[in-house]
Amino acid sequence: MISVKFMLDSLGGLERTHTCGELRSGDVGKAVVLMGWAAKKRDFGIFTFIDLRDRYGLTQVVVSEEDAEEAHTKAKHVRGEFVVAVKGTVVARQEGTVNDRLPTGEVEVRVSEILILNEAKTLPFELEKAGSQNLASEDLRLKYRYIDLRRRYLQDNLKMRAKALRKMRDFMDDQEFIEIETPILLKSTPEGARDFIVPSRIHRGKFFALPQSPQILKQITMISGLDRYYQIARCFRDEDLRADRQPEFTQLDIEMSFANQEMVFRTMEGVLNEAFSLVDGDLETPFPRMTYADAMRRFGSDKPDLRFGMELIDLSAEFEGTDFAPFASTLDAGGEIKCIVVKGGADYSRKILDGHQEFVKRYGASGLAWIKLGDETTSSLLKVLGEQTISRLAEAAGAESGDAVLIVAGRRSVVAASLGALRKEVAKNEELIPAGVFRPLWVTEFPMFEYNEESGNYDPMHHPFTSLLDEDVPMFKRAIEDGEKELLGKIRAVAYDIVINGYEIGSGSIRVHQRDIQSLIFKAQGLTAETARERFGFFLEALEYGTPPHGGFAAGIERLVMLLCGTDNIRDVLAFPKTASAQDLMMDSPGWVDDAQLEELGIDIIERAEENPA
Ligand code: AMO
Repeated sequence: MISVKFMLDSLGGLERTHTCGELRSGDVGKAVVLMGWAAKKRDFGIFTFIDLRDRYGLTQVVVSEEDAEEAHTKAKHVRGEFVVAVKGTVVARQEGTVNDRLPTGEVEVRVSEILILNEAKTLPFELEKAGSQNLASEDLRLKYRYIDLRRRYLQDNLKMRAKALRKMRDFMDDQEFIEIETPILLKSTPEGARDFIVPSRIHRGKFFALPQSPQILKQITMISGLDRYYQIARCFRDEDLRADRQPEFTQLDIEMSFANQEMVFRTMEGVLNEAFSLVDGDLETPFPRMTYADAMRRFGSDKPDLRFGMELIDLSAEFEGTDFAPFASTLDAGGEIKCIVVKGGADYSRKILDGHQEFVKRYGASGLAWIKLGDETTSSLLKVLGEQTISRLAEAAGAESGDAVLIVAGRRSVVAASLGALRKEVAKNEELIPAGVFRPLWVTEFPMFEYNEESGNYDPMHHPFTSLLDEDVPMFKRAIEDGEKELLGKIRAVAYDIVINGYEIGSGSIRVHQRDIQSLIFKAQGLTAETARERFGFFLEALEYGTPPHGGFAAGIERLVMLLCGTDNIRDVLAFPKTASAQDLMMDSPGWVDDAQLEELGIDIIERAEENPA
């Protein structure tokens, strides 16, 4: 026997009059219909209380055996997460039972009729406990994402995301930018990650690539004279995931013709201020600026967190001519010796220092030397350098009594990475990072190329469509014409990032608009003329038909919304995120496809992945 009841009107003839977050004392006396989920039920004999929840809030409804016998019987059947409609009258709560923490806490609904719209199985995890602590494992919550998304926290984040997008769209519209959608089935785009590819059935053996960004297409809209483009663009990159990275993410992507760097900066500062106004985060404009070289020197990072100090201090000069072999060889090899000063770090225990030592080793440092300016000065280098030198070093570092100096020696890139990361780690541990503060920064003059040790090539640091800083063009010519390839590593680009609180929020550049220079950049990065033609021939040709000078930017929406929501987990700001191992646990994707489908596409699977990799 089928026991399912089919209703002609699944709402039982009722229409919702209010949401569960709406009723106030001014509504007392009104006849209302509410619909929502039974968040909680309490049975007190002749009274049954249900907390009815929807996206907007929570309202207490009460069913009395005396007033509504039938409804009361039905209410007894209601369990957690049942979907319920109630009809009743708004009454003021009795004194002493007002709930100040609920916006609807002054009233309750006295129910005359109740309708169970749908039942619910016992949830695989508890929603109620789901404050920010005591959550079920993230994997379980991702498998049942539809349930996890009932949590107010995630719903608030999605609302914030929607509001931010709306603000940004409005701003871009006001500034005469046109929203233009570009295809998802595309061709490989050069953002430096691996492509996700899609096989073509009609052209067996050929593949589309999903866009890593709409970079080339947005530039082409400039060639077409559209003047100002923007898009809330989906991007796809097959790369290792981190707490602020997803394989599929969204950008506010913009491009403008006849624009210089200042115009792009003003536009981005304006649109970001619109978004941050949602959290009263006034980003003072113009944003401060710092060259890439300075950021690396002062913070060991191209995305410095400016909410706290503790800059890297160069002690290399103090070690000129030292006979301490490890430091001498570091300097001989072109490396450097740098430190950070931790205020009040003189009381660091051995255990903490050992912990920091292990920490920097993860970034390739061979070790961490330290000086503690306590009642007496102690140092891991005291024996080898002697008291006088140690005091001189502490002074050069600007350390004061009570401080600790943490020192790393090594290759420049290693010193930057390890001390830069340690700076952040110490700030976190010592609680030096003020809450609710946003510190934006333009990082400018990025290197055009970076050396790729594996291939021996110089890869574009941003992408190959970035124009060179005027003053470095002669160096570029020498690198190309005289074969002085190493010079490529020194050339700077008109490329810039926005960093807020240590997050790379977005990046952009003024573009190359002349075909000849574009071809030379492809050549410099090691693409043969043939590969360049095959991959970008259409674009090189397009550049020949009247290309205006142009430039643009793309901001990562998830990272932006992470800041607005105060989370450091990117999955908190996406409705349906992937796990760190790039899986959708709810839909169980990626998944296998039918053999027939593969055959149609002309694809043979040589080796299948394990069914459930860790
Ligand atoms: P870029 O590659 O720097 O530039 O990307 C711009 C911004 O997008 C965000 N982002 C990501 N967010 C989440 N997950 C990811 N995997 C991910 N990758 C990037 C970051 C980043 O700063 N076409 C150029 C822009 C341009 O030149 O106009 C581009 O895509 O916030």
